[in-house]
Amino acid sequence: MISFTNNNIEKIYITGKKKLTGSVNISGAKNAALPLMALSLIINKDFNLYNVPDLADTRLMSNLLIDLGVKINWNKGNVNFYGKPKKDEASYDLVRQMRASILVLGPLLASKGSAKVPLPGGCAIGSRPIDLHVKVMESLGANIIFDGGFIIGSLSNEGLKGGNIKFPKVSVGATESAIMTAVLAKGQTKIYNAAREPEISDLANCLNQAGADIKGIGTDILIINGVKELNQVSHSVVSDRIEAGSFAIASSITMGDVEINNVCTKNLTEFINVLRYTGSKVEISNNSINVSNSKRPRPFDVVTNPYPGFPTDLQAQYMALMAIADGKTLIRETIFENRFMHAPELMRMGAKISINHQEAEICGVKKLKGAKVMASDLRASMCLILGALAASGTSEIDGLYHLDRGYEKLTDKLTNIGAIIKRSN
Ligand code: UD1
Repeated sequence: MISFTNNNIEKIYITGKKKLTGSVNISGAKNAALPLMALSLIINKDFNLYNVPDLADTRLMSNLLIDLGVKINWNKGNVNFYGKPKKDEASYDLVRQMRASILVLGPLLASKGSAKVPLPGGCAIGSRPIDLHVKVMESLGANIIFDGGFIIGSLSNEGLKGGNIKFPKVSVGATESAIMTAVLAKGQTKIYNAAREPEISDLANCLNQAGADIKGIGTDILIINGVKELNQVSHSVVSDRIEAGSFAIASSITMGDVEINNVCTKNLTEFINVLRYTGSKVEISNNSINVSNSKRPRPFDVVTNPYPGFPTDLQAQYMALMAIADGKTLIRETIFENRFMHAPELMRMGAKISINHQEAEICGVKKLKGAKVMASDLRASMCLILGALAASGTSEIDGLYHLDRGYEKLTDKLTNIGAIIKRSN
């Protein structure tokens, strides 16, 4: 089993006010790679994923799958999966470290006919229930009970059966659960109010290449005709739009000029529109964007929404940019109830922010000043890094293990475009 370190005690030091210039290559998307990796529980023939980012979360998913009996070979970004899961119980120690582990529930049921998955537990950005995942399993014929901190799923002799799933709210993970469980169910499944995130389309496209029958990809109604089995497949993980957006803001916030390569530009349409409104210049060509900026950003209000809306996963980073805007910005977070934990830390650098329930009011300041700050979650870490890149003096950022969950080789990538950044114990 591959081990990864919990770099809890490591810190990042950034000396800011350095204009970022040059080019950076974007990695495969964590949020696409995780459900794609879980497919190895139901694709038992040779299954290859390319462009898999090497992150704490993908290593953790890999360990979870290995523990369930899947054989995995990593060779840089190429990961080969083979063999069937041998057991139906997911490890508590692994599941509790990553909420996305819930994604193994449906594939385990489809593969083994039963599943025992620990409840994933709390999270810094909100309560994050899993009721919709459970509803999905029940709609497809599974019997679900909760016992001793586990979700325990079983199937009747008839196995998984297609059904109608109407989501009361848009959920990325529950839509993925529904797709992964329905592809091998008997008969037809219709999913209404499905999430439309590009990572979901990536999952569905990979499944169709493996012989699944999913229609409506990219829309909010998915129709899935169950197939008996899935075939051998090789698939390249879509590029990470959140990493791309984070680097775009890094360029804007430092008055830089950065070419961001390996980007699926159409997946960033709303974000690019917003960045242009704030005054940054964004040039789009094939698979890259060039982002440059020469003056204080213009304030521009945003509301986070499911795709194609402004992504909640870029809200924290955008707040860092608006912290130095020439005026007042309102940011409304509609996806998670507690996703402004970066705000008080950004205020330690001199940002002027007030929070009222799901709304943040940011009064832009001319300058941020380096400070000691603590990251509370993955995107909050990036927000603080961006704040530090714009601030005068040196900042010390703690809570790094969040960052390792979702940004591949971040310090190297930032150093290559001119940031003064050091990581140390
Ligand atoms: C995924 C992403 C995460 C992103 C989020 C929203 C992964 C691994 N993570 O998370 O980076 O921020 O989408 O774009 O892809 N909800 C319920 N019941 C459920 C499931 C969700 O009430 O059973 C709620 C959540 O609490 C939240 C909303 O639905 O308020 C949307 O969450 P969801 O889209 O499911 O997020 P994740 O799939 O966990």
